[in-house]
Amino acid sequence: MNILLIGSGGREDALCWRLSQSPSCERLVAAPGNPGMARWAHALRQVDANDNDAIVALAKDIEADLVVIGPEAPLCNGVADALDEAGIACFGPSAKAAQLEGSKGFTKDLCARHDIPTAAYVRTEKADEALAALDKFGCPVVIKADGLAAGKGVTVATSRDEAEAAIEAAGEGPLVIEEFLSGEEASLFALVDGRSTRFLASAQDHKQVGEGDTGPNTGGMGAYSPAPVLDDDLARRAMEEVVQRTADAMADEGMPFRGILYAGLMLTEDGPKLIEYNVRFGDPECEAIMPRIADDFAAMLHAVATGDLADMPDPTLEDAHTMTVIIAAEGYPGTPKKGGKITGLEDAEADGAIVFQAGTVLDGETLRASGGRVLAVTAAGEDLQQARDATYAALDKIDFADGFHRSDIGWRELQRRS
Ligand code: AMP
Ligand code: GLY
Repeated sequence: MNILLIGSGGREDALCWRLSQSPSCERLVAAPGNPGMARWAHALRQVDANDNDAIVALAKDIEADLVVIGPEAPLCNGVADALDEAGIACFGPSAKAAQLEGSKGFTKDLCARHDIPTAAYVRTEKADEALAALDKFGCPVVIKADGLAAGKGVTVATSRDEAEAAIEAAGEGPLVIEEFLSGEEASLFALVDGRSTRFLASAQDHKQVGEGDTGPNTGGMGAYSPAPVLDDDLARRAMEEVVQRTADAMADEGMPFRGILYAGLMLTEDGPKLIEYNVRFGDPECEAIMPRIADDFAAMLHAVATGDLADMPDPTLEDAHTMTVIIAAEGYPGTPKKGGKITGLEDAEADGAIVFQAGTVLDGETLRASGGRVLAVTAAGEDLQQARDATYAALDKIDFADGFHRSDIGWRELQRRS
């Protein structure tokens, strides 16, 4: 089949790599893509990822049998609806279903209506109601701005003063105030085609910029897969109690979800509880997950897009552990330094690692940094320690003067094992 892949980050480079190796993928066009994706795609085409008409026109032009949407913004912007109207199969949810990521309040209310386990909450726009919620939940308490905030609209307040300051800082906007959940966090990725759901993989992200999970939040500085804390029993439970209930709820309410459902879970004493949903693959979790997928990935995504997931076998994953470490440009998550020269990628990949590209640009023959997160170095091993050693050995061969990375990805899990 002909596939159009929308996006230009490390996540999309990993999707591009995996799709290009699928037996059922005949032609793969990435738009707008990046220099890494140019290695796997048959062509790159320029398109504004937030221009639905342009994406539909491009899909028609290349006679796409399947369009795969990488990032959340085009989904919230209704690109799947536009493709649906044009009769083109799309991997990614409608704008209504994308509210699972776009509106925390929407998701909390859905959970409440359908008995999906999550933290108790109050959704309000009024400061006095928000303050009353603080009395109800005590401290710590979690304060969230209701909207797409790229993970930056959340405050876990440990004192009443901090909580009140967060409410004040949020101003007049809609807020969700939540009970604090304690436990281990893990991410679960599930394929959903409306009613049918399939567990794909678990992963663990590292959101903070600094060693030992310190400093400001980023899009993610590294990940590994699987996340051993989400064992088979917990994964089964989360699929039944969280993912399947959500799929049924969305279908029952007339906005069936199609695509990848990324559930951020807290593994509490009472079982897995939903912290948040994303309606697309995580970045860098996707880079860690793709090398583990053993199936015809394009056929799997097509089955999701056409509502035929029930006819597909369960996804099979390589019995391997993978790790991804992000190399970011100095300044990230603030303003990153652009233009730094990158060399050594071939050496880094010599022993089987893959260096996915995110914020890169070709300047003649020279690869340079053009964004915050620049490279996603990924390798596999028989266990997490081996995956870690292979990933950092590959990373050491890369020369990027303006780059920095965390040297402790996986530390919590590795410490637990030693
Ligand atoms: P979110 O953007 O909703 O995923 O929140 C960002 C981070 O805040 C999560 O990854 C958790 O570490 C933390 N968090 C969010 N909600 C809660 C909660 N109810 N209890 C404890 N921690 C939370
Ligand atoms: N790595 C976190 C995210 O993609 O939302």
